[in-house]
Amino acid sequence: MTRIAKDISKAIEVLNAEDVVAIPTETVYGLAGNIYSEKAIKKIFELKRRPLFNPLIVHVDSIERMEEIVSHVPDKAKRLAKAFWPGSLTLILPKKDTVPDLVTAGKDTVAVRIPKHLVTLELLQRLDFPLAAPSANPFGSISPTSPLHVEYYFGDKLSMVLDGGDCENGIESTIIGFENGKPVLYRLGSIAMEDIINVIGEIEVKNKKENAPNAPGMLSRHYAPNTTTFLVDDVEAFISDKLDKKIGVLLFSKKMDNPNLAHQEVLSSSGSLKEATSKLYATLHKMDKLDLDMIVAERFPDKGLGKSINDRLERATKK
Ligand code: TXA
Ligand code: MG
Repeated sequence: MTRIAKDISKAIEVLNAEDVVAIPTETVYGLAGNIYSEKAIKKIFELKRRPLFNPLIVHVDSIERMEEIVSHVPDKAKRLAKAFWPGSLTLILPKKDTVPDLVTAGKDTVAVRIPKHLVTLELLQRLDFPLAAPSANPFGSISPTSPLHVEYYFGDKLSMVLDGGDCENGIESTIIGFENGKPVLYRLGSIAMEDIINVIGEIEVKNKKENAPNAPGMLSRHYAPNTTTFLVDDVEAFISDKLDKKIGVLLFSKKMDNPNLAHQEVLSSSGSLKEATSKLYATLHKMDKLDLDMIVAERFPDKGLGKSINDRLERATKK
């Protein structure tokens, strides 16, 4: 049995023994280990079945700690950090030699963030090392937003899940790096692009495999349920010739008036994109267990967090 517990001291013990602990953050749960322990980092890659060329995000509790692993912080990165940390922004910055190559997949940059979750901030403060933590899901599947999701994925292969409740934001951090001094957005996420632009001005977006060889995690199929999933503009029209199938629909704010549907989920009856984002993965996890023939999701408004939701749903539909 996985140990799901709120005991921070126990988590410290496990991490000091070079083992891996799933930790809560405000975005999704992470699979965490000491960045300086080869044993722990290898176990993270193994548990996730993640290719070694795909680097990990490092979590720290302060700018001072970040400066131990980063060699230079561009001015725009400083402004972003000031605006959004602790929070759901990951910065890709030039790394110091002290950061093991295993963590960064041999790159000369390291991805870093200060998460906004009191349990994990306390944990980081009490540890002598930063934590590498990719999302706590097997490679390619939906990220976990509750301790039970993590347990479902890893069972007793994982020593401990540090219980910090349900993740408040519910999708991964927004990732920003720099190319020739210019900011580049590699992953849409919990912080809306408009909010980033408000702080540093226009930013280039390279969040597709085709245009972002630098962001190895941006595979087109990712964040995917096992159930075949579609993302469409008009759900009613799409399902009209498929009513012999067991269909589950994922909707933004309004239920459909269609008695043939096996299951309906509305992410925010008040039409809040923030609420919809926070429920997206938990709802997909739930729908994936209903033995449906297909999940049909409605395309969200293409603004704010709606862009991030559409991005994840697009990746969930690719085969
Ligand atoms: O919200 C989040 O960011 C969560 C929580 C746990 O913090 N973590 C997370 O990690 O989503 P992960 O590993 O699932 O996604 C991190 C992405 C990967 O696509 C990886 O390829 C990319 O960040 N990445 C990490 N280091 C990088 C680097 N040095 N250069 C470019 N991309 C990098
Ligand atoms: Mg991930």
